[in-house]
Amino acid sequence: MTPIQFARPYFGPEEAAAAAAAVESGWVVGGPKLRQLEQAFADYCGAPHAVGVSSWTTGAFLVLKTLGIGPGDEVLVPSLTFIATVNAIMHVGATPVFVDVDPRTYNIDPADIPAKITARTRAILPVDQIGLPCEIDQIGEIARAHRLLLVADAACSFASAFRGRAIGSQAPISIFSLHARKVVTTGEGGMIVTTDGDLAERLRRQRHQGMSLSDYQRHGQSPTLFETYPEIGYNFRITDVQAAIGVAQMARLPEMLRLRRAAAERYLARLGGHPDLIMPFVPSHVTPNWQSFQIRLREDIKLSRNALMDQLHERGVPTRRGVMASHMEPPYRSMQAHLPVTEMLAQQCLQLPMHPALSLDQVDFVADEVIAALK
Ligand SMILES: Cc1ncc(COP(=O)(O)O)c(C=O)c1O
Repeated sequence: MTPIQFARPYFGPEEAAAAAAAVESGWVVGGPKLRQLEQAFADYCGAPHAVGVSSWTTGAFLVLKTLGIGPGDEVLVPSLTFIATVNAIMHVGATPVFVDVDPRTYNIDPADIPAKITARTRAILPVDQIGLPCEIDQIGEIARAHRLLLVADAACSFASAFRGRAIGSQAPISIFSLHARKVVTTGEGGMIVTTDGDLAERLRRQRHQGMSLSDYQRHGQSPTLFETYPEIGYNFRITDVQAAIGVAQMARLPEMLRLRRAAAERYLARLGGHPDLIMPFVPSHVTPNWQSFQIRLREDIKLSRNALMDQLHERGVPTRRGVMASHMEPPYRSMQAHLPVTEMLAQQCLQLPMHPALSLDQVDFVADEVIAALK
């Protein structure tokens, strides 16, 4: 059997040809492929606007900054997330306030949000952790009741669904990552999807040094169009070479989702009844994209999570620890947040290999090795 990889992009001749065509076209940034990818995302999400950026992180920074969130403001966020979510709040000078998570879904616990709201709270930044949609209806109600902004970290959840609708249509602003481990990838990249047309226009300008017209709008115009710079912006552009790869990936999305689902179902069938393991919990009203496959060790077993990971590594099975507790990392320790569920999950979870090219034989091998290591 070929060596098992933990994650890898599902790229083939389609993506290679798309990248080459973008290079040959001369439009390597700010061109038609970016427009096409933005339209494809907006259509898929059922949202009117999509703005491509260089990463989730730059997109989130830009959104928070453009919404006027900054020093003195507090943003509610789970600690159990990739640290980028929390860092984005710090980058605009605001203060992250950590909320605990639901032990079944690993997503922000709506019941813990009201206790964390203060006079300084400006926004909630919930996360669809490892692609499983969070309880956005309940979170949206709390946000409305307290007049808070709602910005969804949908970095991992592109093509997941909540109550039958694609993620991206629930919150006023959702931000996706296009990083190599995501379901649709352009290597690096991000996509902001929003219902707010004025915000989308500002984000488009801000990603390009505040410029009033895009290069594509100016191209070939007669008489010449002159741009202005109404506000200070950044360089957070995604290239057209990346966008072309993204467009090719979108065409293969149904296939990629089917393969991920098949791998997940096989893991569930093989490991589901194991007395030492807790499988991912999927509420009946959500459909995950299976961006990652995370399992949890029961508390009372002898083998530690780290020892199990070491054993699996020796058996040719690469794993990663489960989602991190950001508040335990040095930059956030001084906040002294106490999040019992987050702290417990961060010790007990690990992720198994998951990507579309993982064969069912490989899933069986991983399952066999997990079972053998636990014996
Ligand atoms: C939940 C979450 N938020 C944000 C990010 C950051 O995304 P990017 O690497 O595109 O900046 C990631 C990346 O893995 C993530 O998992």
